[in-house]
Amino acid sequence: VRRLQEFTRIRRDQAFAPVDLTLVIREALEVSQFRWKDEAMRQGVEQRVVTSFAAVPLVSGDPAELREALTNLILNAVDAMPGGGTLTLATRAEADAVVVTVADTGAGMTDEVKRRLFEPFFTTKGAKGTGLGLSLTFGIVSRHGGQIDVDSAPGRGTQFTLRFPILSPAGGEAPGTARAPVAEDARPARCLVADDEELVREMLSDLLAQAGHAVVAAASGAEAIERFRAEAFDLVLTDLGMAEVNGWQVARACKELRPDVPVLLVTGWGVELSAQELAAHGVDAVLAKPLRVDDLLAAVASFSAKRR
Ligand SMILES: Nc1ncnc2c1ncn2[C@@H]1O[C@H](COP(=O)(O)OP(=O)(O)O)[C@@H](O)[C@H]1O
Ligand SMILES: [Mg+2]
Repeated sequence: VRRLQEFTRIRRDQAFAPVDLTLVIREALEVSQFRWKDEAMRQGVEQRVVTSFAAVPLVSGDPAELREALTNLILNAVDAMPGGGTLTLATRAEADAVVVTVADTGAGMTDEVKRRLFEPFFTTKGAKGTGLGLSLTFGIVSRHGGQIDVDSAPGRGTQFTLRFPILSPAGGEAPGTARAPVAEDARPARCLVADDEELVREMLSDLLAQAGHAVVAAASGAEAIERFRAEAFDLVLTDLGMAEVNGWQVARACKELRPDVPVLLVTGWGVELSAQELAAHGVDAVLAKPLRVDDLLAAVASFSAKRR
């Protein structure tokens, strides 16, 4: 447990971490609720909020900054709909990007405003505006390697489109990779995570820890085997392509030590092996990169549950 706490503390100080943009949007909606819900209600207007979230891959980022960027867009949308309207937030995945859209049915913008809206201190709201929201948002999106576009016309509402590069390069879903069924009892498991890429290792560890699992992270195949020898685990998640000791070797070593502990192989390449061939290599299932959060958690839950 101490390791885990140390781990999360270190991580929090780091600027970038793997981020689920859908969660960021949910948080942004929550922190801005006083504006689109409470204040609107007091003024007798209805701000309808519609969300449409796809299962999107993770991006690399600072969740607090991203939440701020999204909150700025949400607040501007609410400002643009003083008589009420519909705010639509959506996420979708493209080949190499996660796309977030924030749309409102408000006043829209003239071309003049559209040209200047990202300028610091540019505002059409007089003393009530700072003109800083969108320049900050632009800065945040740029720092994340992202892009922000606006589509708007007077009286026709506004849509902002944000594009963020996904964390791991799109390799497509590996052929023959089954989606793990969602287990009913997602009891906490003690997981060993082996990956030599720091970002991926942190992403996996972080996601599992957030889902309530205990995580020990190993930076190499050799370290993973060492840890597996030393401690009890419910599940092993190992990257395939690691230098020196790779995922197959980790799987085989773990199975030799404790055949009852499931081993999940994480790979960006299509692993076209039958269930029997995988089993012969000590692998219980293959998870394809880019990993989807839901799939990862479902697989961990189902395999650690199966063991009990
Ligand atoms: N969703 C929107 N609909 C219409 N106009 C917008 C919208 N978002 C931003 N704007 C325009 O861009 C300007 C700059 O926005 P921003 O930088 O957030 O500063 P502020 O909100 O303090 O005015 C706003 O004053 C407004 O004219
Ligand atoms: Mg603003």
